[in-house]
This record gives sequence, C-alpha cells and structure tokens, in this order.
Amino acid sequence: MTNSQLPDSEQVAMTNTVLEANRKEQQEKGPDLRHVHAKSHGLLWGEFIVESDIPETMKVGVFAKPLTYPIWVRFSNASSPEKRGELKSDKEPDARGMAIKLMNVEGEKVLDDEEKTQDFILLNHPVFFVKDVKGYIDIATVKSGKATPELMKAMKPSLAIAQEMGSKKISNPLDVEYWSTTPYKLGSNPIKFSVKPQHEVETSTDESNSDSYLREAMVNFLTHQGKDAIFDFLIQLHVDEEKTPVENPMKEWKQEDAPFVKVATIRIPSQKFDFDERKRLDEGLLFTPWHTLPEHEPLGSVNLARQKIYQELAKSRREHMEKRMREPQPYTVVQDEPRE
Ligand code: HEM
Repeated sequence: MTNSQLPDSEQVAMTNTVLEANRKEQQEKGPDLRHVHAKSHGLLWGEFIVESDIPETMKVGVFAKPLTYPIWVRFSNASSPEKRGELKSDKEPDARGMAIKLMNVEGEKVLDDEEKTQDFILLNHPVFFVKDVKGYIDIATVKSGKATPELMKAMKPSLAIAQEMGSKKISNPLDVEYWSTTPYKLGSNPIKFSVKPQHEVETSTDESNSDSYLREAMVNFLTHQGKDAIFDFLIQLHVDEEKTPVENPMKEWKQEDAPFVKVATIRIPSQKFDFDERKRLDEGLLFTPWHTLPEHEPLGSVNLARQKIYQELAKSRREHMEKRMREPQPYTVVQDEPRE
C-alpha cells in the first residue's frame, strides 16, 4: 500500500506550497478561524455505537469490539471566510462537511496532540476534486488565470467536480449523505467510509429568509421538535486498483463493485446546542484525519498533505486566540462578534 505516487520530495515541497498559500489567506481573512469550513451549523454531542455482527475482516481498530464511544460532531459549509463576521450565507451553494470525533479511544495514536480520539471527516459528495496535492496547486493556478492551455485542458475534470461539489443546496445538514472521498486503512485493507441518515427529517425552515437556515433547521429538529438524529456508518472495502483506486480520490468507488457494509450507528440525541459557550468550543477544536489509530491511517497524496496543513493551520488559529487573551485588542481592531 503506497501513500503517494508523487516522489517524496515533490509531495513535501507541494504540501509546503499549499500550506503557505493557505496560511497567508488565513492571516488576511480570519486568523482565528478555520481557513476552510469556517462556518459551523452546530457542534453536537452523541454516541458512536459499534455493531456486534460485523464481518471478521472489519473487526479492526475502533471496530474491533462492540463498544459505544462518546462523540462530538461538527457540521459546516466548506468555503473560506471572506473575513471574520462575514461568513458566507447558507443560501450560497457550497459543499457541506461532517466531522466526527470519537473519544475514550484506547491505543497509541499517529499524532501525539490528542491521546484518546479518533476523527472521521466527510463531505456531502462521493469524490474529491483533485487526484493528489499537485492537482490542488494546479487548480489554484487555473483559478488565478495563469494556467497554460495544456493545464486548463488537463484540469477540466477537476473543475467539473469542484463545480458539482460546490453547487450543493441542502435543506438540513442532518438530512444528507456524507462520504470520506479519500481512502484509509482498515488494518491491511484500504477502505472508504460513508455516513447515511436513518431518521425522517421534515424541514420547515424558510430558506429564503435566513443566512443561517441550516443551523436553524438543526435547532428546529433536535431542540424544538425534540427528535434524535440517527445515522449508519458504512465501510467499503478496496477491490482492485481499477475499480477502487487508492491514489485517485476523483474516482468513485461504486456500490456495485464495493458494497457498503454497516459497522456502526451514530446517535445524536435531542439537545440544545445553539449557545455561545458551545460555539467557542467548536471554534477551538481540531478535526484532522490524522487524529487516528495506526489501523485507520489515511492513504494517498491528498490525505498525506492534510497531515501537516491541518496541524499547522490549527496551530496558527489557536495561537491567535491565545494572543488575544494575553493582550486584549480594542474592539475596533478585532471585531469578535461573529454575525452569522
Ligand atoms: C489537499 C487537500 C485539502 C486541503 C488543503 C484541506 C484543507 C483544510 C483545512 C485547512 C481545514 C481546516 C483545518 C483547521 O484549521 O482545523 C480543513 C477542514 C476540513 N476539511 Fe479539508 N482539506 C483538503 C482535503 C479534504 C478532503 C479530501 C476532505 C474530504 C472529506 C475534506 C474535508 C474537510 C472538512 C469536513 C473539514 C472541516 C473539519 C471541521 O469541522 O473542523 N478536506 N480542510
């Protein structure tokens, strides 16, 4: 199982290029916010219940025993902030994210900043828009208008996926399916994972009136209607490099080739979550695919790049938060009232 087809030196250099470009934008637009996925619809608590009757080959890592893990789940819009206090309206088409953090997970982890967590990160689209970290740089070149005709042509499929991913309109983040898009290990097998809602969601929020109708739809369902949100956590096993490639997250692993197997249930009970203290906790957390047991290590060039990028950019935004606590800034310098 390889972790990138790019030579190591290129993978490292290109990861640094993406990191520095993202860091620059983060500093300009919202130094204490996530560079992407800044707008949260809610940080929710719940349970990740591992099934007892899963296939033997899948009883690995957190799925080894039928345990129930406490979780935090964060739902988000994918786009970058324009600046603090001006996060994009939910009415704008966008990709949507779901980030899950299991706690009380025993065993040595790949990173050492969190001891007992396992994160799973997903988007509401089955594929990602670039093949590897080089593609991430190439698409930025295209967007800057500096691409050669050859590069423009080569990046057409990526642009088409990015366009499709970014044009999603949804009624409620609790009502859609999410995919890992990139592969991970399950012991010695590559896998992808997905999360699918099992509950009925009736959305009565008026989308046209509110820039934060997605948060309001979740408040309506979980708090006002007092309902629980239930999801299946599903795994697909790698078949071969043609049908289920590890090094190309632009290619969907089709259900016909690699059927989804349910390995856990996610239960998000009815709850209140729309209050300031929860929003502060949400802003401070770091979800990364590299908060993981080695048994679920992320695979491929895109995932490999995410290790340093998420870690470094979260470090920057946390340092900024801390700096503001050490040396308070006048309100005119730092407007800290998120208008969402
Ligand atoms: C090279 C490719 C990628 C780059 C450069 C990138 C960059 C980032 C960054 C900088 C963050 C914020 C980190 C933080 O400050 O906490 C983030 C968050 C996120 N990314 Fe990516 N990402 C990439 C690929 C992906 C892929 C393949 C997925 C597919 C699931 C994904 C889904 C998400 C989600 C859902 C979040 C929000 C996590 C949260 O709620 O905190 N990203 N990404």
